[in-house]
Order: sequence, then structure tokens, then C-alpha cells
Amino acid sequence: MCGIVGYIGNNDSKEILLKGLEKLEYRGYDSAGIALRNERGIHVFKEKGRIADLRGIVDEDVMANIGIGHTRWATHGVPSKVNSHPHQSTSGRFTLVHNGVIENYDLLKREFLTDVTFVSETDTEVIVQMIELFVQEGLEVLEAFRKTLTLLHGSYALALLDAQDDETIYVAKNKSPLLVGLGDDFNVVASDAMAMIQVTNQYLELMDKEIVIVKKNDVTIQNLNGDIISRVPFTAELDASDIEKGTYPHYMLKEIDEQPLVMRKIIQTYQNEQGELTINPEIISAMNESDRVYIIAAGTSYHAGLVGKQFIEGIAKLPVEVHIASEFVYNMPLLTEKPLFIFISQSGETADSRAVLVKVKEMGYRTLTITNVPGSTLSREAEYTLLLHAGPEIAVASSKAYTAQLAVLAILAEVTAKSQNIRVDFDLVHELGIIANAMEVLCDSKELFEHISREFLSVTRNAFFIGRGVDYYVCLEGALKLKEISYIQAEGFAGGELKHGTIALIEEGTPIIALATQESVNLSIRGNVKEVVARGANPCIISMKGLNMDEDSFVIPEVHELLTPLISVIPMQLIAYYAALHRDCDVDKPRNLAKSVTVE
Ligand code: M6R
Repeated sequence: MCGIVGYIGNNDSKEILLKGLEKLEYRGYDSAGIALRNERGIHVFKEKGRIADLRGIVDEDVMANIGIGHTRWATHGVPSKVNSHPHQSTSGRFTLVHNGVIENYDLLKREFLTDVTFVSETDTEVIVQMIELFVQEGLEVLEAFRKTLTLLHGSYALALLDAQDDETIYVAKNKSPLLVGLGDDFNVVASDAMAMIQVTNQYLELMDKEIVIVKKNDVTIQNLNGDIISRVPFTAELDASDIEKGTYPHYMLKEIDEQPLVMRKIIQTYQNEQGELTINPEIISAMNESDRVYIIAAGTSYHAGLVGKQFIEGIAKLPVEVHIASEFVYNMPLLTEKPLFIFISQSGETADSRAVLVKVKEMGYRTLTITNVPGSTLSREAEYTLLLHAGPEIAVASSKAYTAQLAVLAILAEVTAKSQNIRVDFDLVHELGIIANAMEVLCDSKELFEHISREFLSVTRNAFFIGRGVDYYVCLEGALKLKEISYIQAEGFAGGELKHGTIALIEEGTPIIALATQESVNLSIRGNVKEVVARGANPCIISMKGLNMDEDSFVIPEVHELLTPLISVIPMQLIAYYAALHRDCDVDKPRNLAKSVTVE
């Protein structure tokens, strides 16, 4: 959460920083600010709200070759102008942007800064005041920065300006992501390569507890002891057009529509020359050597994990447990002797999942991350990585990453099964091809989902999604999508569980969205629908071809029964999208949320 950028070079930094922040808005969007350094000093512009609001207050006439910027997701202190970054030391000499959480900021305040008057409620202000204090006590700026870092507990990605130095941006990182981008006569800093891809595709990855001294023509990485570290840059494989909306009104709609393409890309990427699905043999050995897989994830990725369990148990016959990361870290179940931990995360930055990863690595267990972001923290820190190849997902509500996660989990299950000579009675490449085609049919049916959304959700305050078996897991995801972007209170339930309490909430007209894609439970889920209809509910049944009945609102094309979540989720995504649109909600940036949740 929170995004930071920096620029040092020969050009005016203002527009580069603002454009970069626009690309990072997915990381937080409740306030934003930039600091521009020129011969007249440091000029800070900050505002509550979006980058568009910040643009409105930036003085066009201020030109500066050095600058830093920040887009915020509030942790300490309400979203407000005063709490937004950059923050400055009392004398105004130092200006800082920060992504992360300093756990001991209060302690540091009491120990070092009792004489300082703080203007904000943030933990960040403590950092910048400490740097100033240590400089006033006689340390060089770099030493003061280093000393401050050694005293911080928590996560940080930092960029610091010194009003007395027109040649340097000081940068540091611990647990929060940060990259330094390399240019010709300029260098940049960014939480994500996406922010600066318009100026460079060459980046240096930073490790935890590293300091970087960024100058126009030079970048020096050090550890906290001052030892110089050499690092080879990597090329960010990002196409600038991937991160544009193009003709779409929202990223979410674009990303929903990209799903057939992503499916085909995954099939292609995970296929060898013989047309067989293939995965790094070391990963398959890790699967085979484990006696149980523990899937750890949050939100949509957790929902993908629930479906993944069906795939791995159903196809590879390996037992799987699925856990919410933020629960698992404090409440670990009894583990088997040879667990393999699989972390599923679109961003690869989710702090709750990372906390588990750190813990289980300390315990000596094997780890695999399934992520969309190469080089992300979870990818770097796990023993193995499988990539989703879904392309950047920018809308806060996850769509294409979910279906990509399911496809990669299915492939992992299939390749593991085959390595053990377990019979797989279908051709996964062929079935995923059918899925891609079915996805296209669904994406072409937008008008219908717009209509369903208007009919069932336009005036309601709440909605229930019910399903059985794997449909239940898709219902959890459908409900999350709807509440996340339309603010309709929505819950996913196992159909049979309703009458054990939740049915009390059914009133005249309560919308019930029921999924019926599984033959073995088709009649029982329809029985559950009848129970709620008898109590006044307004049912919308989405079934699969072959199981459909007259009363159904939409029939999805027939695909392999185990793989139905890959397509049955698309109606859910589109219904949520249109519900948000009808309610005039900000589809891509729902209130209170951020795309990567980098604080625990
Ligand atoms: O990047 P991750 O997949 O680890 O993120 C996990 C959740 O924060 C994420 O899936 C969240 O639930 C989405 N906004 C849901 O659409």
C-alpha cells in the first residue's frame, strides 16, 4: 500500500512524477503529494484525494530536476492534507516519502524526539525528524539516514531529499517493494516498474535493509554496514500499452475481457514442444516429496486456493489444506511431517502471506509462490515460483488473475499426477482451450449481465450467492467482487447451510444468485433455491449447459465439470461490474481499498 516515485536528471521532474503516481494509484489513493527540489529550495504540494486533485494544486511554474512523490493508503492518521506525504523535518531541510509501517514509531518519539512538535499523526514524520536530529548532532546525512534505519522496526520503502544537496535522492527499503530505474543522464525510483516504464525498462532490484544513493549519473547500493553491493539490472518486460485502459471505460472491464487471451497465453507458456504441459521438475519433485500441500493466500487468491484444493486433490490425489494468511500466521494448525507451502498472490506483495512465508521458511519448510509479478517479494523469497502470465492487473478488484491462478493450479495438479503415473482422464490442454472459447462467449454476453444486474441488484442493500461443492467457492468470490466494488452487502453461502441460520435474513425481494454447474448437486441447489423463494427471495440461477432448466437466468457453455470455476466466475465479475456502474461507484478504485495490501 502506498506508492512512491522519484526522479533525478536534467528534465523537469513534475510531470514524470505525476504520471508515475497515476500508475501507482492502485497502491493507495486517499491522498497524494510531491516534493520538487530546485535552486530555490524544496517545494511540497500535497492534497487529500486522487492524483487528479493533486494536479489541481501543483504550481506549473515550479521547475525542478529532482523530485519525489507519494500516493497514500492511510495507516497512521486519517486521509488528510496534513497526513499526506511528503513529510518534512522541522527546519524543512529534509523531505521524505514512505511506504510501509514503522511499528516502534511511538517509542522512538518518546526516546529521541520529545522536543519536536509533530504536525501529522503519521509514523513517517518520526523518520524524517530522526534524520534531522542525528544531522544536528553532527552526523553526515548518509550516516544519519543509516543510523535512523537501524532503529526502525517495521516495513519501509523510503525516498529522502536534502535541501542542501541538489545531487542526491537517498533511498532505502525493508519489506516494502522498491526499485531504482536506470536512464541515460537520469535515474528514477519507483514502487513498481509500471510507474516509470515510460522512461526506462532497466531496473535494479533492492533487497531488504539496503540503502541506495541515487544521483543523476550514478547509483550506489550499500547495506546497513556501509558495504558496497554490486547488482546487475534487469529488464522489466512490460509493454507500456498493457497498463493503459485503451478504449475501455474501466481497467476492470478490460481485464475481464482479457481472460480468454490470458488462458491461451498460459496454455502456450506451460506447453513444451511436444504439446505437453510442463513445469519445472524441481517443483514437481517438491510436490511429490510432500505429504500435504498448505495453500496460503488472502481475498480472491484465497478463493482461488479453495478451487485449487479441488484440482490438486482431485487430479494429483495429494491432500491440501487452504488457509487465510492473516489467520494462519497467528494460529498455525498441526502440520504434517513434510508440508509444501504454496503462496498464491496476484501482486506477490501481500504482507499477510509474506509473514507466513518468513515463518515457515524459518521452520525449514519448502515453499512455492504462484504470482503474477516476477521479482515480487513473495516470488523472490520463496524457493520456487510459478508465474501467472496474466499481464498487469490494475483494477483493485481482481478478475483475470483469479482465472489465471486456477489455470496454473490445474496445470500443476495435472503435471504432478502424470509424474506419478496417476491417470488423468481428460486432456487439460484441450479442456483449457474449450475454457478460453467459453470465456469469449461470456465476455460477448455483457448486455445480458448488465440486464441481470439491473433487474436483481439495482435497489437492493444486500445479496446472497449460493452454490454447492466447487460452486460454493465461486460464490464466495462472486460475493467478494460485488461487495468490494458496489458496496452491496453480499455473502457467499454453501446452499445447504442457509437453513442453519442465514435464511432468517431472506425477505421479500432479497436477491439470491445461485450457481448450478455440478451435476451431483444440481437438484439439491435447486431445492435450496426453492426454500428461499418460498420466503420471498428473488432468484437468479446461473447454470451450465446440460444442467439448465426453464427458470434459469443464464446458461454458461459446457466445459469440463472440474474446471467450471474458470468460467462460472465471469458472470459474477460482470454482474458486480455493472452493479457498481449502476450505483455510480468508482469501479477501479473502490473506497478504503488498495490493490496490494502490503501492511499486516
Ligand atoms: O495480491 P494478492 O492476490 O495477494 O491480494 C490478495 C487480496 O488482497 C486480493 O485478492 C483482494 O481480495 C482483491 N482486491 C479482491 O478483488
